[in-house]
Amino acid sequence: MPEVAQSFNPSDLSVGELEALQNHYLPKPYRIERIVKHTADEWAFMVPVDFEGGFDKFVEVSLPMAGECPISISDFGEGWIELVIRRVGKVTSELFKLKEGDTLYLRGPMGNGYPVKEVFSGNNLTVIAGGTGVAPARSVINYFMRNRDQINHMDVIVGFRSRDHILFSDDIEVWKEKFNTTVTLDQGDPEKGENVGLVTAYLSDLDYNEPEHHHYVVVGPPMMIKFTVKGLLENGAREDRIWVSHERRMACAVGKCGHCRVGNTYICLDGPVFRYDQSKHLID
Ligand SMILES: Cc1cc2nc3c(=O)[nH]c(=O)nc-3n(C[C@H](O)[C@H](O)[C@H](O)COP(=O)(O)OP(=O)(O)OC[C@H]3O[C@@H](n4cnc5c(N)ncnc54)[C@H](O)[C@@H]3O)c2cc1C
Ligand code: FES
Repeated sequence: MPEVAQSFNPSDLSVGELEALQNHYLPKPYRIERIVKHTADEWAFMVPVDFEGGFDKFVEVSLPMAGECPISISDFGEGWIELVIRRVGKVTSELFKLKEGDTLYLRGPMGNGYPVKEVFSGNNLTVIAGGTGVAPARSVINYFMRNRDQINHMDVIVGFRSRDHILFSDDIEVWKEKFNTTVTLDQGDPEKGENVGLVTAYLSDLDYNEPEHHHYVVVGPPMMIKFTVKGLLENGAREDRIWVSHERRMACAVGKCGHCRVGNTYICLDGPVFRYDQSKHLID
């Protein structure tokens, strides 16, 4: 007698089995509620979503016929995320043609994010960010803005190419009121009161007296990460208190294609945020 195939009932499956059946490659459409044009080439897209954001978690953003790219969640709240996107190439240029009310497509969120509540809370924190790296760091800073009693002391050092490239100038003014905040420009005018130089020039001004209780978030281009970490270590920061975020070319973002793999590490699955002592080999 041939065996009778049992009927398939999804309600018989465990949560893990249902998760495994999900198509992680399938993007979903979302409506853009608001676009804020910070600079000519850096815009913030506020998008209502049906998933939870996270501190430097990222989403894959796509448009039909254009392609897909990973973008960090720069801020989030109940039912919304914000993405700050720099126009650099094919996909991002198409995204810059969109208007409020138009549709973009998202997969995610992905990545591990910063251990804001579990590790940073109750300690001293220094956030050092460059360029669009300020976007993922912003969700961390704004969390402690809203929950000032959860952080002991906080320094913020942010660097931009020039005055025209400054992101989140409104936020930065508020950060200055609550935290020890330094803004520095690669090309600036000291006569106008602007700090000129790289973020690394300000590392020796920090207080390194409590290495055990002082964490550092470093996010920006690879060269900036390399020299900032070097400077922090020379001043006495502990390797296991430095958190770096790695931006690598990605494709699937779910650990299948190998695009982001360095040795045995998949940046999309294991990162993009890593403790420096556990990820030295990922820095070029
Ligand atoms: C985890 C993660 C988070 C990111 N978060 C943000 C963000 O918040 N905002 C933002 O604007 N960008 C972010 N990026 C970078 C963004 O994904 C790339 O700029 C994007 O893929 C460019 O797509 P494109 O098709 O417009 O450019 P392309 O046409 O593919 O490339 C244009 C230029 O950008 C370079 N490029 C492309 N991808 C990367 C990359 N991953 N890293 C470095 N250089 C790249 C190319 O070499 C080329 O020079 C993030 C990347 C990762 C991996
Ligand atoms: S992007 Fe495909 S494995 Fe990480």
